[in-house]
Order: sequence, then C-alpha cells, then structure tokens
Amino acid sequence: MQVASPEPKGPIIELSNQLKLSVSERLISRGLAIFGMRGSGKSYTCGVIAEELARIGQPFIVIDIMGEYYTLREKFPVLIVGLKATDYTDLHGLRPEHAEPLAKLVVENGLSLVLDLSRGTMLEKVSFLADFLEALYKVEEEARRPYVLIVDEAHRIAPEKGLPRLDRISKALKKAFYWLYEIAATGRHIGIGLVITVRRPAEISKSVLAQAEVKIVHKLTDPTDLKKLHEEGLPSELDEVVRSLEPGEAVVLGLGEPFVTKIKERACSHGGETPLIEPVKSPDLERAIRALAEALGLEGREGGLPIPEAPTPPPTPPAHPKGLEGLEGLETGPELPEFSLITVDYPLDIVANYLSRMMIYGQLDVLVPRSTQCLASRAFATEDAGEVLRALAIKLAEAGWSLKGAGEEGKRFLLAYHGGVAMGLAAARAEDGEVVAIVVSAPTPPLLDSALSSLRALMAEACPGARELEQ
Ligand SMILES: Nc1ncnc2c1ncn2[C@@H]1O[C@H](COP(=O)(O)OP(=O)(O)OP(=O)(O)O)[C@@H](O)[C@H]1O
Ligand SMILES: [Mg+2]
Repeated sequence: MQVASPEPKGPIIELSNQLKLSVSERLISRGLAIFGMRGSGKSYTCGVIAEELARIGQPFIVIDIMGEYYTLREKFPVLIVGLKATDYTDLHGLRPEHAEPLAKLVVENGLSLVLDLSRGTMLEKVSFLADFLEALYKVEEEARRPYVLIVDEAHRIAPEKGLPRLDRISKALKKAFYWLYEIAATGRHIGIGLVITVRRPAEISKSVLAQAEVKIVHKLTDPTDLKKLHEEGLPSELDEVVRSLEPGEAVVLGLGEPFVTKIKERACSHGGETPLIEPVKSPDLERAIRALAEALGLEGREGGLPIPEAPTPPPTPPAHPKGLEGLEGLETGPELPEFSLITVDYPLDIVANYLSRMMIYGQLDVLVPRSTQCLASRAFATEDAGEVLRALAIKLAEAGWSLKGAGEEGKRFLLAYHGGVAMGLAAARAEDGEVVAIVVSAPTPPLLDSALSSLRALMAEACPGARELEQ
C-alpha cells in the first residue's frame, strides 16, 4: 500500500520519499504524534524531524528526557542547555528561575534548543519542565514566532492515568501536563506546533492526543494498542502490517489513505552513546551562549565559563552526630526490620536517584547533619530487589551493623549504622527492572571509602549478579 500523501504547501520537511509535511499546515496548525514500542524508531524519527527543521531554518525545541538529541550538534547550530553538566551541554545548572529568561532568549533570537533533562532528580526535571512550558507559552503569546516543540516520551508528562502519588512531584507534573495540554490545544494560535512520541497509545492523555492529526505508527504488537489505534484511524486490515514493521518503518495516518513508509536515515548519529567529537560552531550560537551565560548566571562547557568545584566536606568528624545514639545500641536479631518494595513507574536510573534523595533528605538527614558528613550513593540493578536487600541486610547485621526500619510505618527504608557510618537502603521496582539503592554517610573521606568498599564486597556476596548503575 504505497499511496503518496497529498502535496504539502509552504516550507516542507521530508521524512521519506512519500512523507512530506508542510511545517505550517501539519506541524504548527495541527500536530503530530509518533507511536511505537521500544526500539521501533520513535526518537529516530524525531531526530529526522529536528534535522529537517534545522535544514529549512525552522526553529524548534526538543524536550530531551533521555539525553539523546545532542548529536544534532554534529551538523546543526542547536543550543544544548541542561539541568546538569554533561560532556555536551553548552550551559548547565538550570533552576526554575531560569525558565522564563531562557524561553525568552531562545524565542527572541529564533534559536533551536535541546533542553536536556537527562540528569537531575525527577522533581528537578519535572519542576523545570513545568516552568519552562509555561514560560514558552507566555513568551509565544507575545512573540508569535512559529516554533515546533518536540516532546519525546510525552506519556511521561501527560499520562492518561496514574500520576505518581508523591506530593511535590505530582504537583509539578500536573503543572507540566497542564501546559503541555494548553500548547497542544491552543498553541497553534500563537505559533507553537507540537510533535510528541508515545510508547503505547492508551498511555497518553486523550485530550493531548486529540490535538494530533497526523500519526506516524511504528511497530506495535499488543492487541490493546492496536485496538486503541483503530479509534485513531488505523484500519484493522493493517494490524498485521503494524505488527511486523522493522525499525524506522511506519504506517502513516491522517494524510488521506493510510500508507506505509520507511523514515529516511539521519544526517547526524543517533542515540545517547556517541561522543560529540566536533560540535558545529556558529557565531550566532556562540553569542547566544555568552548572552545566556551572562543573563542567567549559568555555567558553561568551554570558553572560560567556570564550573565551580563541588564543595569538599570537612575532614573532622562531628563530636556526636545527632540522633545516632538511638541506633547504636540496637540489637539486630534474626528478625530484620520489615520493609516494602517501593514501586515507581519511571526508569531505573531515575528511580535510584529519587530513592537516594529521599533517603538523604528524608531519613539520613534526621540522623546526621549533611553539612558535617561525606555522602555517596550507589545503586544496583537486580532481579528480585526485595530479596537482595534482605540478603544484604543480613550480611550487614552479621558484619556488626545495627539496623532499623524507617520511612512510612518504618517500612520504606532500612537504616544501618556502624562505627560512625550510617547507611540508608531501599528496594524498588522501576518501569524497566528492579533496583537496590544505597546511600552511605561517613564523617571522613577515608571512612566513606572503606564503607563503600565493604558495601561492594557484601553486595557481591549477597547478589553476585547485581549490576552497579552509573550515577
Ligand atoms: N528510520 C530509521 N532508519 C534506520 N535505522 C533506524 C530508523 N529508525 C530506527 N532505527 C534503528 O532503531 C534503533 C531504535 O530506534 P529509536 O531509538 O528511535 O527507538 P525508540 O522507539 O525511540 O525506542 P525507545 O522507546 O526505547 O526510546 C535506532 O538506534 C536505529 O538503529
Ligand atoms: Mg526513544
């Protein structure tokens, strides 16, 4: 079934020989949704869209949750700004107060932006995104400059159901959701077009999805997903075609008769693995980076913008860490404190990061003042995280550590204490696996190092197959 799409008007982007989209008619005035299971080609297609937009000089903004879009810089002068420093961010250190000036500077200068949210806590990511989407909308209400907003993994921001039940995150997420919906529903009137990717059609908010007229459907196999797509215009005769698509192949809906196509190859490399060897330079971009760095007080990667050193903790141990006395005398018998397997529907690394923060700020901080301690966190991907944590706790108890349950009803975390070193431990089920997260707090760097090496050894005994996650 190779039926060409209707001839588009105005500046167009070409995603394949058959799939050509008018920027004003299809992306700005309507909206585009890209579906597909893991590895089916959604982000790749977004990458091609971004490259095509860059080629024709149409500014765009990518909300990059996974840190996959910096490779655009191999060929295009796209500004890369992140919450945290990476090898490729032009500027980093974004805080909520930067959202508005960033949106303003980008739009006023017609820059294309990759907003890198791949690092930081979930709360930091979602809060910044919420403020940024609001700021973008408000800046565009005034400027009305055509922009394409690409939101990869939009179901994480605008789920059809099930926001996390964690207060501050769900508040920030609701705000991000609200502004994404506002952009989807009314953005076209102020010049913002929306491109979203979604893993499963039923996962994305119906009200956001309703605004996307063109749909690029990569491989999906689940009958529920296909059924949902029937409502979006997929004829059931094409179910088998959608099930057997290769990466990059897609069925296109919303441009007359549905047709099958293969999205063309990217001009830049794809994925978050490739080091950015020689980023393109442009005087406009360099000027914008300097202006942003000055206006926002952000730190940069090169060009003499200093990245401050992390403060080193004081070497002397506190005389008496508050609250530790209560733990010191604890008996650990054969009965371990009870703990629950926490479930958070986000990827492993995000969940691990989130648990570590919870333990540092919510639990360890009660016991040991952060300012006088050295902290480190470790996370391990493992099957059956609850059992692994139990085995680890037994090893710790055998090695002389005192243990205590903490968090909600004393079940969320385990606290361990031994010789001035405190440790928080938690097990969680993430979207893509299970994780044991551990935070260690010690009064001096050598004590921290030795606690970490004994921890690693105990973990290797408790679960030889555990894989340490990069943090
Ligand atoms: N149009 C294409 N041409 C060539 N290769 C492609 C194309 N689309 C996808 N691929 C290949 O498939 C791989 C996975 O694609 P991609 O990263 O876009 O998946 P995804 O749908 O975004 O998955 P996830 O949900 O895990 O993010 C790419 O790394 C690439 O090798
Ligand atoms: Mg992807």
